[in-house]
Amino acid sequence: MRAIHNLALVGFMGTGKSSVGQLVAAQLHFQFVDTDELIERRCGKSITSIFADAGEAKFREYERAVVEELNSSRKTVIATGGGLVANPENFASLKTHALVICLWASPETIWERVRHQAHRPLLQSPDPLAKIRELLAQREPYYRQADVLVNTEMRSIKEIVHQVIHQFRSAHDPSS
Ligand code: S3P
Repeated sequence: MRAIHNLALVGFMGTGKSSVGQLVAAQLHFQFVDTDELIERRCGKSITSIFADAGEAKFREYERAVVEELNSSRKTVIATGGGLVANPENFASLKTHALVICLWASPETIWERVRHQAHRPLLQSPDPLAKIRELLAQREPYYRQADVLVNTEMRSIKEIVHQVIHQFRSAHDPSS
């Protein structure tokens, strides 16, 4: 049987992984980690600077290393960067110890949520909505491999948190 010690939130930028993850962690009395924050702390610079100085390929290497280190986590909610599960090794690794829940939203909703934020290098494009559509279409087959897909459209954060916790409690054996 698969050991589910942790909860991993995957999904596109702007689907609420960090906000939902922090609230879920508080309610479950789990610790909360965010893979982007772990990478930023390790490198001593922002994601934007890492992309600018070292490039996306290097950033993906940092992501890969962080995911491996999280294998030994217990009672942890892990919010992941939006592109992390496009690497099947990362997905497989998370699934060995975590229930993987994908937060979903349409490109238009994502754009509404992220349009006033500037910290996402992949959206620094002349047509960010087209970029969101393109990336989401590429990644959808990966996101669909999550254990559970939670649609965040037209739902309050409270409802989303409630649903995520319900799914986790149904899958998790507290004695494990
Ligand atoms: C990325 C998403 C970002 C961050 C980086 C790349 C992506 O994380 O990891 O900018 O490839 O979708 P969030 O999903 O937390 O914004």
